[in-house]
Amino acid sequence: MTDPIYKTDALIAEDIDAYLIQHQHKSLLRFITCGSVDDGKSTLIGRLLYDSKMIFEDQLAALEADSKRVGTQGGEIDFALLVDGLAAEREQGITIDVAYRFFSTEKRKFIVADTPGHEQYTRNMVTGASTADLAVILIDARKGILTQTRRHSYLAHLIGIRNIVLAVNKMDLVDYSQSVFDQIVADYTAFAASIGITAFTPLPISGFKGDNITAPSANTPWYSGPTLMAHLETVEVDVTADQAKPFRMPVQWVNRPNLDFRGFSGLIASGTIKPGDAVRVLPSGKTSTVSKIVTMDGELDAAIAGQSVTLCFADEVDCSRGDVIAIAENPPQVADQFEATIVWMAEEDMLAGRPYWLKLGTQMVSASVQAPKYTVNVNTMEHLAAKTLDLNAIGVANLSTDKPIVFEPYETSHDLGGFILIDKITNTTVAAGMLHFSLRRADNVHWQAIDITKEAHATQKGQQPKLLWFTGLSGSGKSTIANLVEKKLFALGKHSFLLDGDNVRHGLNRDLGFTDADRVENIRRVGEVAKLMTDAGLIVLTAFISPFRAERDLVRAMLSEGEFIEIHVDTPLAEAEARDVKGLYKKARAGQLKNFTGIDSPYEAPDVPEIRIDTTRTTPEQAAEIIVERIIGIWSPDL
Ligand code: ADX
Repeated sequence: MTDPIYKTDALIAEDIDAYLIQHQHKSLLRFITCGSVDDGKSTLIGRLLYDSKMIFEDQLAALEADSKRVGTQGGEIDFALLVDGLAAEREQGITIDVAYRFFSTEKRKFIVADTPGHEQYTRNMVTGASTADLAVILIDARKGILTQTRRHSYLAHLIGIRNIVLAVNKMDLVDYSQSVFDQIVADYTAFAASIGITAFTPLPISGFKGDNITAPSANTPWYSGPTLMAHLETVEVDVTADQAKPFRMPVQWVNRPNLDFRGFSGLIASGTIKPGDAVRVLPSGKTSTVSKIVTMDGELDAAIAGQSVTLCFADEVDCSRGDVIAIAENPPQVADQFEATIVWMAEEDMLAGRPYWLKLGTQMVSASVQAPKYTVNVNTMEHLAAKTLDLNAIGVANLSTDKPIVFEPYETSHDLGGFILIDKITNTTVAAGMLHFSLRRADNVHWQAIDITKEAHATQKGQQPKLLWFTGLSGSGKSTIANLVEKKLFALGKHSFLLDGDNVRHGLNRDLGFTDADRVENIRRVGEVAKLMTDAGLIVLTAFISPFRAERDLVRAMLSEGEFIEIHVDTPLAEAEARDVKGLYKKARAGQLKNFTGIDSPYEAPDVPEIRIDTTRTTPEQAAEIIVERIIGIWSPDL
């Protein structure tokens, strides 16, 4: 017997595949249940599983025994015990946010994502809802519409679920009153319209008593609609809609077993394709014709959305993982600046300007998000001004990617419009997002070709541009050493410029303080300026604490290979504090200076800097000599 209930995330995909194969002939409905245990969610799910005979005999026996022992439900089976018991199992080790349960009836197979209702609700719901066709919003008939009903409905709608079931539960506790039910439906209708939900299916049920779950209830003679199960079994799912859309297939990998065969494998996100169809590879825009559609079971005459296939082309066209193959005359867009809704899922706040990995289907690029235009209070739907996004926050913001990506608005395509953001250092998913549209300015602002190139500037100066990036604690000696290095370069006839933290903060970055967000912006701007200066052919020296690896790496990525020289001025905190040249450590310790690096704000030392100066063993003069020698060595080994 396999445990159908809880699995680790890694196993879910495998499970789903196995499950789908087993019930191949039936259509599939993926749905999500929203509500808390108090609303009777566990009882309802338990009831659905029980009525579809998904509970195995031994579990059932244990459940009956448990119910009798607990005795609170008058000897009836307490279905909540089943689900909650399994939830306890899960807490023993693996933490997963969404539990998938599989069950099937004669007519249909189902995957239900159950998202625990604890404080991580937004993250869980977004994860569980991202592939759902339908959401069951549970309401306790005694309580009516609550803040959480509004929150769940908003999230379900935001994620793009178009089938909403309003399950008014615990009807037995309001004497199956039609007027109670009607009032709740009227209240919900008004609310739903305000957030763009135009249609929903209201159902009076009792998960505990079984009213209108699988059989019409004699207790609600005034209700003539379907039972919950009948609705789940017959509700129309938009699978055909995906097939009717234009053809798109994100390329997962290039299949090249030998020189005679070259195919592009992936899962068809939308549309249909057949040999002879003209296709376009994006973002390059190159076109070709499909020569063959290959699968494990042989060649196909046509393939449709939802199928995994390998496409072969009539011509040799460049195409690799992350590209999207589309029907030639109706391709998706390509852009590098967007407006998006972002759901923040990390404990640490979003840092505007910080580069994160953005994963959209098989595409992976570096992206940074600007400060949000607003966040949405998911309880009241109010728009609020905000500088950042914190855990569970939902905001609308502009973002830019370092390379153009192939996309469609989320509304049109969940596959090409939905993305996640990943922290580059910890590799954890920090956000999920939905692209709205590309910013028109991305199309209208072009690179101006300049005749006097970076190379021409550098050649005229007889040098190779470099960026010597000094990083280290306050008082570590960055400015002192950078200053000496510049003097030596100057004496050697080199053209240089030194950007110093304390100086830049008096002008260009006068508006920035020392919060994490401001430090990110400080370094981003300095990086941009330093880059322009290297374009002018200069050797640029910067002396900034630059405490975060992510931003130092961002600047590194902006420059050409070998141009960015990271110099860690490595002075232990105790030493910098003992020197306390500016008296700032003393102030910070006294609590008069907040967010001071090393005291109550972190410093992330470089892992592998090009140069590391241990200032406890090296004098500033020696350090400058070492650096100049290394730099001169790098640009002209013969000197
Ligand atoms: S960074 O973290 O954003 O790179 P930056 O190098 O520009 O910092 O500025 C650091 C200088 O600002 C320090 O050398 C110190 O003189 C001054 N300073 C004032 N407040 C702080 C603070 N809270 N933390 C660090 N440095 C501060």
